[in-house]
Amino acid sequence: MAGKLGVGIIGCGGISASHVEALGGLADDCAVVAVSDPVESAARRRMAQAGVSTWYPDYADLLADEHVDVVTIGVPHYLHAGIAVAAARAGKHVFVEKPMALTAGEVHEMLVAARAAGVKMTVSSELANPIHRFVKERVLPALGSIRFSYLVDFYLRTTAYYRTGPWRGTWAFEGGGVFANQAIYTWHQYTWLLGEVDLAYGYWANILHPSIEVEDLGYGLVKFRDGSCGKLFCTTCCDAPTGTRRLEIVGAEGEISSDVPWLRTLDFHLKSERLDAALHRDLGAHLRVLDEPPYAPWSPDDQKCRIRAQLADLFRAIRDDREPGVSAASGGEAIKILNGLHWHGWRHSARLRDWIYGRYDLPPATHPEGRPTVEDAVAADWRGGQLIPDVLAIVRSPTRSLDAPFL
Ligand SMILES: NC(=O)c1ccc[n+]([C@@H]2O[C@H](COP(=O)([O-])OP(=O)(O)OC[C@H]3O[C@@H](n4cnc5c(N)ncnc54)[C@H](O)[C@@H]3O)[C@@H](O)[C@H]2O)c1
Repeated sequence: MAGKLGVGIIGCGGISASHVEALGGLADDCAVVAVSDPVESAARRRMAQAGVSTWYPDYADLLADEHVDVVTIGVPHYLHAGIAVAAARAGKHVFVEKPMALTAGEVHEMLVAARAAGVKMTVSSELANPIHRFVKERVLPALGSIRFSYLVDFYLRTTAYYRTGPWRGTWAFEGGGVFANQAIYTWHQYTWLLGEVDLAYGYWANILHPSIEVEDLGYGLVKFRDGSCGKLFCTTCCDAPTGTRRLEIVGAEGEISSDVPWLRTLDFHLKSERLDAALHRDLGAHLRVLDEPPYAPWSPDDQKCRIRAQLADLFRAIRDDREPGVSAASGGEAIKILNGLHWHGWRHSARLRDWIYGRYDLPPATHPEGRPTVEDAVAADWRGGQLIPDVLAIVRSPTRSLDAPFL
């Protein structure tokens, strides 16, 4: 134990299994010393996995434990900010799951608390992937002025998924649907690449998930501090139709793109063949870090690998007294988009849904209320029909405004 950081696990549900496994790969640097969850069975499962015997039903008691230096927070979204602030005030370093908070105000409180206490705070993100850092540090500056960007996300989420926790699919506890839970993850990468958010607005609706309160489809516009604009689309109603590009960042001298879910990898192409070849060569050399700890064994599709890499970076940041590679402030930019799109689209959501119902072929409805469901979509292998190309045409158009044909 001597010299190792003591880690407390707050929230012993699904994602905490990956936290504990990732921490197991960093046994030279840390040891899990306690877990907290009000649900005993969940806590006992995680204790068995981590090999610890200390359980605190109330996280405040874990925060009072002097053996805990760092906490991982994997609880329902609405608790992230309050627990992270309490942890910082108790002098604990923080790894908090996404979304880091539900409002930009909560983000502010978290950053202030971490700064005041002199603790490190980071938010779970794909940015621990070394490809992303290379693209930000080496490729982005070579892109010249950014002309336009868009980010498209498809995630199929069934009714059964929303039944896995009573907090899911609710405004009060999840704070949104596809925006707050899934898209926030890639929005963090997107804003990390493109900078601070100046303005964000958009539209959303719930079209295929009658059992939940929150949005399952939406689109929006973001204006960044440098004046460049980008557009976003996401849905939990269907998988991506074949050939749907996910990310494009178009600059004067080239572009960055990704065709991969969760933006697990990024590609780039520069107009200058010489520079393009040199940067691809350098990326190849840079990725040799994947053969070494904390990356190895590395798989871009394995959540635990990037959690391990990010926790290793947090531990180094604590020892070297530097900012973590993924700063908590960077996660806050995605929350500005979340708030901007939600609040702007609130008043229009029923109209967008009615417009979609009246205009597009949706899967045949079997729900008693006559509304089509995501299960109907799966049964009919519905991939969005004409709705998806029509919305994507709005999102991929590099004009500044955002069409709202339903208004
Ligand atoms: N980064 C990723 O890849 C990823 C993947 C899945 C989930 N997540 C995030 O992790 C968080 C948790 O998701 P999950 O799927 O593990 O949810 P879950 O419902 O499986 O687990 C949440 C756990 O938190 C516990 N909990 C509730 N209140 C608590 C409190 N006051 N103190 C301590 N524990 C408390 C619950 O009892 C439950 O065991 C969510 O915010 C989600 O967005 C991230």
